[in-house]
Amino acid sequence: MKVIAVEGGRPLRGELTVQSAKNSVLPILAACVLCGDVCVIENCPRLEDVEASAAILRHLGCRVRRVGEDLEVDSSGLCRWDIPDDLMRRMRSSVIFLGAVLARCGRAELSYPGGCELGPRPIDLHLSALRTLGARIDECGGMMRCRSGGLRGAEIVLSLPSVGATENAMLAACGAAGVTVISNAAREPEITDLQAFLRKMGVNVRGAGTSTVIVEGCRNFHGCRHRCIGDRIAAATYLSAVAATGGDVTLKGVDYRHLSTVTTALSQAGCRISSAAGHIRLQSGGQLRGICPVHTSPHPGFPTDAQAVVMAALLRSSGTTVFVENMFQNRYRHVAELQRMGANIRLEGRVAVLCGVPRLCGATVRCTDLRGGAALVLAGLQADGITQVEEIHHIKRGYSDLTGDLARLGAEIREIDR
Ligand code: UD1
Repeated sequence: MKVIAVEGGRPLRGELTVQSAKNSVLPILAACVLCGDVCVIENCPRLEDVEASAAILRHLGCRVRRVGEDLEVDSSGLCRWDIPDDLMRRMRSSVIFLGAVLARCGRAELSYPGGCELGPRPIDLHLSALRTLGARIDECGGMMRCRSGGLRGAEIVLSLPSVGATENAMLAACGAAGVTVISNAAREPEITDLQAFLRKMGVNVRGAGTSTVIVEGCRNFHGCRHRCIGDRIAAATYLSAVAATGGDVTLKGVDYRHLSTVTTALSQAGCRISSAAGHIRLQSGGQLRGICPVHTSPHPGFPTDAQAVVMAALLRSSGTTVFVENMFQNRYRHVAELQRMGANIRLEGRVAVLCGVPRLCGATVRCTDLRGGAALVLAGLQADGITQVEEIHHIKRGYSDLTGDLARLGAEIREIDR
């Protein structure tokens, strides 16, 4: 079994280029299905979730190959519209293929996406958006059988600004006749990135980044090259790591405007942060203080994906910080593992009350999910002695080289076989 072993107590220093955003790359890989041509995703991170997307694309008949750091997808040979259960279960984002396959093939057959460690993650909004565009969807025995019978542009009103439902609706709308207006759309930067990619493929789409996205159905898709935005959650992870250990790190390749809620929180905790186009520098003395309550919410609010890592940064802070998790029911599973290391966190439903402790002690802990796993590594970086983090396949879903990146910044950390 591979585990991450980390010895705490080293400050982090240096420069790091942040990987491309997982949450941009995944819907964009699904969007490649639309065009029947070659698309190149430049600097595509090597992640388990990218591998899972590539496996789905290959199953559908696309050719997918790595060319250095780029990923090339040729969807000209696409010949299937079904996705088998084992591929659907590998990741939650597999459901984004639904809109794209339906738009390209006029039908799609797939099972429900992977069960999720964050609690129930329904896809009712995805299905209702596609039905509004005219899709007929039969749900039976864990399968969804969808036929378009010719999708038609329509007005879709999402009852929640769901990221995935917005993306699915955008992708399906590309294959619909006429104009689709998506209201109460999610405003995450990754939606804007998907729009940028679709435009390069020839789609007339606008409004991403606001609550209204307008898509004109497209007949003439063409291949394109695209470099996704930097990963704001990976960046939040590295910033939280330096905040906790102390040190001075500059991150490159990420837009500081995508991170403003996280940098505001870390500044409040006592870090010095400066940013310019494509750079964020964080300096920390390693002794932080508690901050105002952190409420997770849809963008531009505080990202739920950064909750665990910012919590980890504050474990040894002076004072108290309250977290309120509004996005997912079960997003505090890392807390029990952090408690094994001496963290003082009290949970009550969606509220977590963290009281800083003077020291943490190294322990053997287990990743419960992707960001929760990263939080355990961050706790290990500041704990006395050695921490071993198990079940690191969760971390590999979303970080291309968390261990290597932290080691290059000066951490005593490596992956070992145990
Ligand atoms: C995306 C991100 C994930 C992030 C989440 C919230 C990707 C690949 N993943 O996930 O990292 O944590 O946004 O920022 O981009 N909901 C419904 N019905 C639906 C869809 C969603 O009730 O049909 C609810 C969810 O249960 C959740 C909330 O809406 O409570 C937000 O979920 P959503 O924005 O859809 O998250 P994802 O797209 O799954």
